[in-house]
Amino acid sequence: MSVAIEADGLTRTFGGGRTLFGGRHPAVHAVQSADLTVQEGETLGIVGESGCGKSTLARMLVGLDRPTAGTIRIAGRDANELAGRDTRALARHIQYVFQDPVASLNPRKTIRQTLEAPMRRLLGLDARARQARLAELMEAVSLREEFLDRYPHEFSGGQAQRIGIARALAADARVIVLDEPVSALDVSVQAQVLNLLDGLKRDFNLTYIFISHDLSVIESVCDRVAVMYFGRIVEVGSARDLYAHPRHHYTALLMRSAPTPGVRRIEAEEKPAELPDPLNPPPGCAFASRCPMADDTCRRERPPLEAVDAPSDEFQMAACWHPIRTGRPVPA
Ligand SMILES: Nc1ncnc2c1ncn2[C@@H]1O[C@H](COP(=O)(O)OP(=O)(O)OP(=O)(O)O)[C@@H](O)[C@H]1O
Ligand SMILES: [Mg+2]
Repeated sequence: MSVAIEADGLTRTFGGGRTLFGGRHPAVHAVQSADLTVQEGETLGIVGESGCGKSTLARMLVGLDRPTAGTIRIAGRDANELAGRDTRALARHIQYVFQDPVASLNPRKTIRQTLEAPMRRLLGLDARARQARLAELMEAVSLREEFLDRYPHEFSGGQAQRIGIARALAADARVIVLDEPVSALDVSVQAQVLNLLDGLKRDFNLTYIFISHDLSVIESVCDRVAVMYFGRIVEVGSARDLYAHPRHHYTALLMRSAPTPGVRRIEAEEKPAELPDPLNPPPGCAFASRCPMADDTCRRERPPLEAVDAPSDEFQMAACWHPIRTGRPVPA
């Protein structure tokens, strides 16, 4: 298997410029030093609560935003270099599907115009080739061809998201970043769109980066999962291991607070959650103020993201000084 996308030390800070009077505006540390590797054909989930930096990370991966620091490699090539030579080169490799399907489509353009634009701009297809590809795309997302000449407001959320997905596929990109692709949809429609995504992935050999705050959605679609907290990746592992044995106390909290089908009660934290100030990140572990295991080391020193039970668990890593250990024996 080869690597589809690799991010190293990705960081994005907003603000922090000089003020009129010589001081500095406070800076928001939206994403801090994130490392990610996504294998071809894999679905990597990114989960975490609102504001933890998921969209900022995703936007950098597809070139909609530039990192303050760090590098991104796509299909072995530096993304900056790809985009620098010709922004189309990057767009042919990686595409983005937005959370709000109707708002992400241009209200003044018909679906045909929306889908033809990337075919023309990125692939240089002539009218006949575009027509053939339009038919193929509409079939792939199970929409009737007669919809092509309608406008976005004529569609339901689920239909609009199918169009958003078709647009991402239009120029044949193989890596798709899905930013909360079903969060705005009704539960029954969510399942249809998730099934569609699953089928497309197999048919077109796609690689997905799937962002959601919903743990059950992530579990159902992802091979591996990265958990983000306050701009950092705090745990990463195979979906199976991570759900069976969360190692970071934040991952465990997320799982305890997720609603379980058939169980009405949602367990909340005992004391009200104290989120760190994004303008002034704490020096140690950002989760320390909410963590039952936190001690002075946690408040003082930032834990690195590393394997918990090396070498058996090389794919499950947590950034925690006191990770949750399972009873599994550590091989010598
Ligand atoms: N353009 C911007 N200017 C200033 N701050 C920003 C900007 N974009 C994002 N932020 C800040 O960066 C942090 C991360 O935001 P981001 O949208 O990436 O979070 P998220 O995890 O996608 O949240 P949600 O689940 O609500 O979509 C937040 O504190 C947000 O306010
Ligand atoms: Mg977001």
